Amino acid sequence: MGSDLDQMKQEMLGRIQAAGDLHALEAERVAALGKQGAVTGLLKTLGAMSPEERQREGPLIHGLREAVTEAIAARKATLEGEALEQRLATERLDMTLPVAPPAEGTVHPVSQVMDELAEIFADLGFSVATGPEIEDDWRNFTALNIPETHPARAMHDTFYMDRADAEGRPMVLRTHTSPVQIRTMQSQQPPIYIIAPGRTYRSDNDATHTPMFHQVEGLVIDRGITLANLKWTLETFLKAYFERDDIVLRLRPSYFPFTEPSVEVDVGYTIQNGRRVLGGSDRWMELLGSGMVHPRVLANCGLDPEIWQGFAFGCGIDRLAMLKYGMDDLRAFFDGDLRWLRHYGFRALDVPTLSGGVGA
Ligand code: PHE
Repeated sequence: MGSDLDQMKQEMLGRIQAAGDLHALEAERVAALGKQGAVTGLLKTLGAMSPEERQREGPLIHGLREAVTEAIAARKATLEGEALEQRLATERLDMTLPVAPPAEGTVHPVSQVMDELAEIFADLGFSVATGPEIEDDWRNFTALNIPETHPARAMHDTFYMDRADAEGRPMVLRTHTSPVQIRTMQSQQPPIYIIAPGRTYRSDNDATHTPMFHQVEGLVIDRGITLANLKWTLETFLKAYFERDDIVLRLRPSYFPFTEPSVEVDVGYTIQNGRRVLGGSDRWMELLGSGMVHPRVLANCGLDPEIWQGFAFGCGIDRLAMLKYGMDDLRAFFDGDLRWLRHYGFRALDVPTLSGGVGA
């Protein structure tokens, strides 16, 4: 028995020593010391032995178990040491490489769409103009031909500030981007070709309205501008934005105090798999308000309506984003839910270009 055990021990120790990795070593451990292992099997025979036999064999078998256990531990330490050496040899930190942090944040769809708009209109020769979100009463209303008694004021659900403007009227959170028309005409000489994207505010809150929302204003002031220029510009813009040639517009007579004539612009769409897909002229949806700049607005800004004409339009940016990228609840835009942002957000380097596809 003694020599059998000895031979078994030599074989086991040999195999343990030969185990090339932790995986193989674990297999050896199970074969020797596991529930069905050879050493475990021997230990089980002790119970059936006579006291004398047990006294002889017991120390031998326990000694075997100890030797095997120790050999496994030693081999394990060696293998782990080698693995670490190898990792240290191959893993290098090159301090000359630029830091490339994982892209954690995303570009909000509204920002992305604003960039797309700037890109599209830059190609048509428009620059981007801005104005403050806290606006004076005159620029938000009066200069746009909305006098104090005008019913359109009530329709705007305006947020009024405690602060008053120079004329003692409360400042407002701008209810549209149209005051940027006034600011631009006051500060630069025609010809003017601008868009003005930005935040706007109205006291309104449901699935399709949030108290803060985004608009883009367009303004062209030049000589000999007509409604045809407006229609071409909007068509060109929407075809580039939706990346489809079959965008069809329908102009309907409408009313805005600051344009004359005023036109509401509808865009054709179809329903595919329960979703709205822009293009064609199956059904119509209202997309934006526009018109020829009212002569009184030009005069309010010191421009002679006999010389200068122009068109203006105002369009909801959030709506544009929803139509292109398929979100259906506006409120989620401003919840700051990381899951939504990861899903609908854009990578920081997805810069829209006309050649690469504005919706890249
Ligand atoms: N300011 C208008 C609105 O918010 C839109 C508009 C802009 C209409 C420019 C005509 C011209 O509804």
